[in-house]
Amino acid sequence: MYIGIISAMKEEIQALLNELQIEKKVIRGMRTYYQGILFDRKVILVFSRWGKVASATTATQLLNEFEIDEILFTGVAGAIHPDIYIGDIIIGSELYQHDMNGSPLVKTFEIPLLGKSAFRTSIEKRNALLKATETFLLEKYKFLTKKQLADFDIKNPKMHVGDIASGDQFISSSKQSQAILIGLPSVICVEMEGAAVAQVCYEYKVPFSIIRTISDNANHNAHIDFPKFAKDIASIYALGILKNYLG
Ligand code: ADE
Repeated sequence: MYIGIISAMKEEIQALLNELQIEKKVIRGMRTYYQGILFDRKVILVFSRWGKVASATTATQLLNEFEIDEILFTGVAGAIHPDIYIGDIIIGSELYQHDMNGSPLVKTFEIPLLGKSAFRTSIEKRNALLKATETFLLEKYKFLTKKQLADFDIKNPKMHVGDIASGDQFISSSKQSQAILIGLPSVICVEMEGAAVAQVCYEYKVPFSIIRTISDNANHNAHIDFPKFAKDIASIYALGILKNYLG
């Protein structure tokens, strides 16, 4: 059995790809699924491209094509909680789709005909990620130089466990973040894929977990150099955390 590891952009899994002993590449639906061994575990790495459709399609293909017993999503997110900063790590608990609104036929945020508005991550996998992340934070300079952290003004990265909202929108104003918080007050960060993959995993009964590195504050300053942040920070975090998680 394989662990499926998905990110939205290639840069977000670049450090993992560099470490992967590739056995096979499978191309389906304009995506490349890299099958191989990472820290002695059988994994499939794939980047889906941005958004809920792209990531749900990728997750479904992963589950139908390979023997997968777990899916883990890794990438960047925008913080919408005031005590969360760039470089912090989020371990997701419940995943919402903030742009789902079938009202007045069904409640706002509820996924029609599924009767659910939140998808919970696997408690077992989440706890294991939490331990792996705690260890990573103690040993971060094994993976990142002080300069790499300073380039993005990351001082003392912390870990948070909390709810994540996904939608097909890049959130780049306080007005947008506040609107999400009014509807979903427990959410601490936003991104564009997690809840879509969480829904697929729920429907296929496969454990799902997610780690996100905060790249911006989902406000007018959100337009950072994404590919650089994803490659130099988020993918190195993923490498350090997954080394502990898989190893
Ligand atoms: N991923 C990283 N930052 C984001 C933001 N501000 N909005 C949506 N997805 C993101």
